[in-house]
Amino acid sequence: MPTQHLTTELNENERLHLLVAAVTDYAIYMLSPQGVIISWNAGAQRFKGYTANEIIGTHFSAFYTEADKAVDLPNHALKIAEAEGQFEAEGWRVRKDGTRFWANVVIDPIRDHGGQLIGFAKVTRDITERKRAANVLRESEEQFRLLVQGVTDYAIYMLSPEGIITNWNAGAKRIKGYFDNEVIGTHFSRFYTDEDRQSNRPSQTLNKAAIEGRFESEGWRVRKDGTSFWAHVVVDAIQNDMGELIGFAKVTRDITERREAAAALEKAQLALFQSQKMESMGQITGGVAHDFNNLLNVITNGLAILQSRISDSKDLKIIDTMERAAQRGATLIQQLLTFARQQPSNPSPQNLNSVIRSFESILRRANDRRLEFEITLAAKLPDVNIDPGLFESALLNLVVNARDATPEGGNITVQTSVVNLKENEINSLLAGDYVKVEVRDSGHGIPTELIEKIIEPFFTTKPLGKGTGLGLSQVYGFAKQSCGDLHISSSQGHGTVISLFFPALSNTGDTASSGRKLEQVLIVDDQPDVLDMAIDLIKMLGYEVYGAGSGEEAIRILCDHSDIDILFTDVMMPGMNGVELARHVKRMLPSIKILLASGFTGQAKNIDDIGDFRLIPKPYQLADIAKELRII
Ligand SMILES: Nc1ncnc2c1ncn2[C@@H]1O[C@H](COP(=O)(O)OP(=O)(O)OP(=O)(O)O)[C@@H](O)[C@H]1O
Ligand SMILES: [Mg+2]
Repeated sequence: MPTQHLTTELNENERLHLLVAAVTDYAIYMLSPQGVIISWNAGAQRFKGYTANEIIGTHFSAFYTEADKAVDLPNHALKIAEAEGQFEAEGWRVRKDGTRFWANVVIDPIRDHGGQLIGFAKVTRDITERKRAANVLRESEEQFRLLVQGVTDYAIYMLSPEGIITNWNAGAKRIKGYFDNEVIGTHFSRFYTDEDRQSNRPSQTLNKAAIEGRFESEGWRVRKDGTSFWAHVVVDAIQNDMGELIGFAKVTRDITERREAAAALEKAQLALFQSQKMESMGQITGGVAHDFNNLLNVITNGLAILQSRISDSKDLKIIDTMERAAQRGATLIQQLLTFARQQPSNPSPQNLNSVIRSFESILRRANDRRLEFEITLAAKLPDVNIDPGLFESALLNLVVNARDATPEGGNITVQTSVVNLKENEINSLLAGDYVKVEVRDSGHGIPTELIEKIIEPFFTTKPLGKGTGLGLSQVYGFAKQSCGDLHISSSQGHGTVISLFFPALSNTGDTASSGRKLEQVLIVDDQPDVLDMAIDLIKMLGYEVYGAGSGEEAIRILCDHSDIDILFTDVMMPGMNGVELARHVKRMLPSIKILLASGFTGQAKNIDDIGDFRLIPKPYQLADIAKELRII
């Protein structure tokens, strides 16, 4: 703004003067070379509160804060403007009433034609509002950044449109294990598995997000240490105001645990369903087998009588054939009873390595020469409580099945080992040490949908007359009766592994009675009201009480609670009676105390010798039980 013109061209001068004076959004005024105010406009008056009369002739440092004045900022600003041709800054300025505003200040030196400094033009704007808005934005951005940074349950980070990682939060570090300087600038496909990378998953994900705006998926991702986790991933495309893709926001959650919990629940439900199914099949089978057995007895007895009366050789031959048929029927019944777990068993502590070794020659003979048969025994095996005869026939069953499944030749292995199982790892087995006996073959395998079926009685794929389909049912019944279980793993064309699990006996003996614990009593009675009454009575005596409605149920409870101290059972019960139960349990748990109860003491002695077991007459009184429980 050359001053020469201001004086020589009045029109121009007037116009400019009016213009500057009218501007209210900017304070525009002139300073002398020393900083004294020599002109003032409407904007200056509006921002700073002084009228022209009040302020002209004053030094412009009047607008500065004390702190700025103390460091001579006003003169410093003029010097810079003079030296560099312009000074621009932002800072607090003070109004006439002492309040402050945030100002944007520009100072230009004004020179005459000769280049002589004749003053400064000063333009000031009040940008307090803008600064406040910027502060608010900065703060909220900062808060948001801190929020995202601080989240540890979610990996939250951004990608460039090409998939390069541009930032990284604490959750990303926690979940994936990388520090930000290790990943920022690299491609996010590094978190995918090799297969996913090969099938172009990462770029497909970005493409879908770019097209649809958002893409959600689940899958395996890999941590820095190489371990995998099951991730839930959301990718959002980010666009600028013009609708151009500028990157992606990616939120990843580690839901491995949730997924595993859901899978475990499903597995447990399936296992429960399967075991309930087998349970009820066992009950039906057991009932039918018993009835059938009685009928068969009538027939065999009848045949024996007829045999003694008949002399005609033709007739005798017929009777002979009938007898053989009845014999076969009896064998079938025995097999069904084993499945129903109602076959008398005589368990005792056994080392399965020794049992298998002494049985090895028979197992070998059962095999074909085209097969490689191998027995691998664990170096050291804890004892298990089983009936060795039933174990041998179960093992033979498995080996014969393996042989039949390997008609083209291959190998069969019988292997023993000790395994520590978590609860429900194998069906509903409790946690603990188990002896595992595995029969493995390289045969044709079992289609997945049939795996659960093959243990059902009468399920066979063998030609008519070749198999009864009772083999595995017996093995299953035996395993369950021995407090163990059976597990099948197979896929079509890839062979089969059938494993038996038996609870390992601890060699240190029974350490359960630590003195601190309540003594535990298992009460067995087939009449629910009598059972309930007995439970209440014995609880009153200070015992921990379990109840069972049948001998079979009692054995199941004892399998799960081998630390029960006392068995208190009714004698007269359908199915397995109390004396049979007592004998079985004594073999199973030699240290358990047993007390029988019967309403027909005399008769009970007749139908079944109660041996050394103590018997309490029914109906019993609280005092009687208390006394008997102390004696046994
Ligand atoms: N190791 C195996 N490989 C493939 N399939 C098997 C295997 N073991 C059992 N199976 C299948 O399970 C079915 C049932 O077996 P299970 O032992 O109960 O009866 P079976 O062998 O058919 O008859 P049985 O044992 O009475 O002679 C078999 O018919 C077969 O289909
Ligand atoms: Mg079989």
